[in-house]
Amino acid sequence: MRAEDPRPVRLAEYRPSDFLIDAVHLDVSLDPEATRVTARLAIRPNPLGPENAALKLDGEDLNLVSAEIDGAPLRVDDLDVTPSSLTLPNPPRGPFELTLTTLVDPSANTRLMGLYRSNGAYCTQCEAEGFRRITYFLDRPDVLAVYTTRIEGPEAETPILLSNGNLVETGPAGDGRHFAVWHDPHPKPSYLFALVAGDLGVVEDAFVTMSGRRVALKVFVEHGKEDRAHHAMESIKASMRWDEETFGREYDLDVFMVVAVSYFNMGAMENKGLNVFNDKYVLASPETATDGDYANIEAIIAHEYFHNWTGNRITCRDWFQLCLKEGLTVFRDQEFTSDMRSRPVKRISDVRGLRSVQFAEDAGPLAHPVRPQIYHEINNFYTPTVYEKGAEVIRMLKTLIGPEAFRAGMDLYFDRHDGQACTIEQFIACFAEVSGHDMSQFLRWYDQAGTPEVDIRTAYDPDRKTFTIDATQKTPPTPGQQFKQAMVIPLALGLVDEDGSDIPLVVGGAHAGPVIALTAENTRIVFENVERRPVPSLFRNFSAPVKLRSDQTVEDLLFLARKDSDPFNRWQAVQTVALRGLVAGVAALREGREPTEEPRLAEAIGRAFDPAETDCAYAAQIAALPSEGDVAREIGEDVDPDAIHSARSYLKASLRQRLAEPLAAAFDRLAERGPYSPDAAAAGRRALKIAALDLLAAGGERSGVERAFDLYKTASNMTDRVMALQVLSLHATAEREEALEDFAQRYGTDPLLIDKWFLIQASAPLPDTLDRVQSLMASPLFDMKNPNRVRSLIGAFASGNPTQFNKADGRGYGFLADVVTELDATNPQVAARLLGAFRTWRSLEPQRRRLAESALQRLAALPRLSADVGDIVRRALA
Ligand code: PHE
Ligand code: ZN
Repeated sequence: MRAEDPRPVRLAEYRPSDFLIDAVHLDVSLDPEATRVTARLAIRPNPLGPENAALKLDGEDLNLVSAEIDGAPLRVDDLDVTPSSLTLPNPPRGPFELTLTTLVDPSANTRLMGLYRSNGAYCTQCEAEGFRRITYFLDRPDVLAVYTTRIEGPEAETPILLSNGNLVETGPAGDGRHFAVWHDPHPKPSYLFALVAGDLGVVEDAFVTMSGRRVALKVFVEHGKEDRAHHAMESIKASMRWDEETFGREYDLDVFMVVAVSYFNMGAMENKGLNVFNDKYVLASPETATDGDYANIEAIIAHEYFHNWTGNRITCRDWFQLCLKEGLTVFRDQEFTSDMRSRPVKRISDVRGLRSVQFAEDAGPLAHPVRPQIYHEINNFYTPTVYEKGAEVIRMLKTLIGPEAFRAGMDLYFDRHDGQACTIEQFIACFAEVSGHDMSQFLRWYDQAGTPEVDIRTAYDPDRKTFTIDATQKTPPTPGQQFKQAMVIPLALGLVDEDGSDIPLVVGGAHAGPVIALTAENTRIVFENVERRPVPSLFRNFSAPVKLRSDQTVEDLLFLARKDSDPFNRWQAVQTVALRGLVAGVAALREGREPTEEPRLAEAIGRAFDPAETDCAYAAQIAALPSEGDVAREIGEDVDPDAIHSARSYLKASLRQRLAEPLAAAFDRLAERGPYSPDAAAAGRRALKIAALDLLAAGGERSGVERAFDLYKTASNMTDRVMALQVLSLHATAEREEALEDFAQRYGTDPLLIDKWFLIQASAPLPDTLDRVQSLMASPLFDMKNPNRVRSLIGAFASGNPTQFNKADGRGYGFLADVVTELDATNPQVAARLLGAFRTWRSLEPQRRRLAESALQRLAALPRLSADVGDIVRRALA
């Protein structure tokens, strides 16, 4: 295990590298336990650096065999080698070539960082600091080199040999071995290096770029799974076309490759020309994948592809700038999906995700700015704040300066910084320049953590015919940031007239809006010429990642739900009414009273199931109640997950009663007809059908359970089957057990389907769920070394099952602490991610809070914690 380094890395201490590496020649001779890596590095002192600096290279779990400078062997005392570095105290003062030969053991690599094995194949993962596990290097993103990689391996086991760039040579290497040489002409940081070798199947296609170049496209999968690679291939072509049309960005190598591997710590990785994917985000067929899988694959293929420009051609100066590539690339993939599918539905589902994970993070002990100022372990900063809030910041930028200036700023950024490793300041400067806006206050979005709370009060003056909005913003304290400054908050709004039309916005005699920037703690806006009291529609399309408190009444909200021209706010209005009802319901239950009902909520939700509603995907979003996590966040403190679950179940049962007929009618009307298609419209119909089914089965109602069981048995596609199983799994019935049993029988040999089966069982809000999870862990289907299995069973339990993880007796917490302890010895990165389940522990009611704290303290007291887990535990407890 890696020795813990207690010294943090600070943004304020950034210094350019003392040395640069212009070219890397890697020679990798594959062997399961002793892969030999010879790295020839063309090094020179950085002209910006100090004279006489020592050269200190990063390294981890490496076995140094030999070292030479300009062909002359180095002696041991010319070198200082530690477990994490190799130092040349007196390197040459001009350019020189350093040749290092190291041995690495891919079979022993359970961290899945550096060179490791996945189901027999060799693959690499280098972001953020994995390249140092392949050879000694200046493993930092501001050192850009041109790579040439020669891979040699046994032809029988590794017929496929891949690396970044273009293939330049292949041939026999004697002894049943062969080799391939790859050259990547684009200078890149080490974290974008990749190598894959194995016996893989491939699907091939081609794309002709906007300038007429032909690019070979290849998707590599395990043999026998080629027929599951076509959707990924189609998604690559769609992404390439979209980036040309939307941002004028063309692909820049002769070949673009995607490899699906079954052991992978994250979702996917944008290595130059050779994206490596978790296989769950590549493989899809109607028999094995759900609508959600199809949508995820399309989005993640796009995300990694878009990194080619936002991340690879222009990369990050240091890891504090991670959001420079991630926030921007998430924004780009969100836009892509919006164009491919439904824009409002995409926005709603992104905002649901942002609130449920990022707002939760921002409200707890792990809160950090989009651009952190300090870290102990960079692996722990691949967070919803960096990614999803980072994307919101880009979206606000576009909202504030307008789409034309935004595109012009992007063009300038690509133009000016191509080939460089950049900072957020350099990025934002491009937009300041093209728009003439002063962006200094806007930059606070990168440096200030926490979700701003905006309070809006309104007043109509019938005599003056004015409508006044008073907006107050406040950002709560977060770790290390007690006091906050005012942010630039784009408020997109409309004043909605009786008939649903927006009245013209006039402020100070001039036309205003529809976006008003709130820049001070208090802002008053007085709209003039307002003939009748309008209903304000606030933060349309979720124009800023803030929490809104307002004096909007339930009547106003129900009016907006019907009349607002903004589809996001029609949805938001229903959500807000439901959320208020649920919060009141929780309070009632905790005081021993029955929750009171809001009949007009049933009416608003019922409209989703009206036969006249043609946008089913959107209707399904209207029908989906706020989650238990949403309610917990709204309550904020002294949270009792059982009471929240009860209040939500109570509401679902009452909706079932009130809407029984329309729900049943919708379920029947939306029954599958004809062959499966994963397109957005068909997926929307299935989503609405399942929303109806979920309500029909609320409270374990027999007829609903029977319907679900019937759908499970007769399903003609995986979406219906999995969703029916999901609905069944919520209620302790015989049908549930039978269906679970059947699913295992049918799909027990397909790991990705077992993941769904694990996840469904681990998420069930039933008292025996933890026991089940524990017995499933003991089954041969489970594998602690495979991150997908761990996430679908343990991750789903810890992060997706509020009542059972937060069992009042603390067993859930103890269980997670035990698993994390065990997993930390083999894969600290995944272990640390599981601990994200504790991000909200401080908001729990006192008994659970005590129990969660003692589970965390037990971890903190362990003698040998990895840097990854240690960092999360310490911050969670701080
Ligand atoms: N850079 C990857 C992505 O967002 C995520 C990743 C990070 C993958 C670290 C592996 C390791 O697209
Ligand atoms: Zn990314």
